[in-house]
Amino acid sequence: MKGIIAMCLKDLIVEKFGADKWAQCLKNSGESQGVSILATSDMKDEVVLKMVQSVCATLGISLQQAADAFGEYWVCSFSRKIYPTYYIKYRNAREFLLGMDKVHVDTTNTLKDSHPPRFEYDWKDDKTLIMKYKSKRSLIDFAVGLAKGVGKHYKEDITVTKLSDDKMQIVFP
Ligand code: HEM
Repeated sequence: MKGIIAMCLKDLIVEKFGADKWAQCLKNSGESQGVSILATSDMKDEVVLKMVQSVCATLGISLQQAADAFGEYWVCSFSRKIYPTYYIKYRNAREFLLGMDKVHVDTTNTLKDSHPPRFEYDWKDDKTLIMKYKSKRSLIDFAVGLAKGVGKHYKEDITVTKLSDDKMQIVFP
């Protein structure tokens, strides 16, 4: 997985809990505190997942709580600074979420060996979107947290529900 994901996790923990807490999370994950986290570098999926598990254990929170916090931070702060054009291009949560398949292809197509998550869309009715998540990484909880973050960013009261390991439902107001 691209280092930018670990970079965002680190910034989130350092900003909300302090650098010492992040050092503790890294130590508990079994990774050395000097592990280099660079935005475009490749990190082994297992290393990033171990960091996430360690954050949950160190802070005493569930995976969904961590995923929700990550999703809100990624959408509302971190990626907004790095990829501002998407936030100008997409005017609401609906457009933003429908753009996500293309955004993941576009943001990774110049990076070697990347396997971005892909999304398929199916409208159940005019307010209910089924979003299919396709990735071998099985991070649907993160997809749910990220979609909730999109609602927060656009200040829209959307309801996001995990339906299975590869599907979530989004109801727009
Ligand atoms: C401007 C907004 C966003 C940008 C620029 C972005 C970009 C990225 C990038 C570069 C990665 C790493 C891919 C790799 O290592 O192969 C990633 C991972 C991921 N993104 Fe996004 N993303 C955005 C928003 C979202 C949203 C809203 C969702 C969910 C609806 C989402 C779901 C995921 C998931 C679940 C992963 C983890 C990797 C995986 O499951 O395979 N992202 N994203």
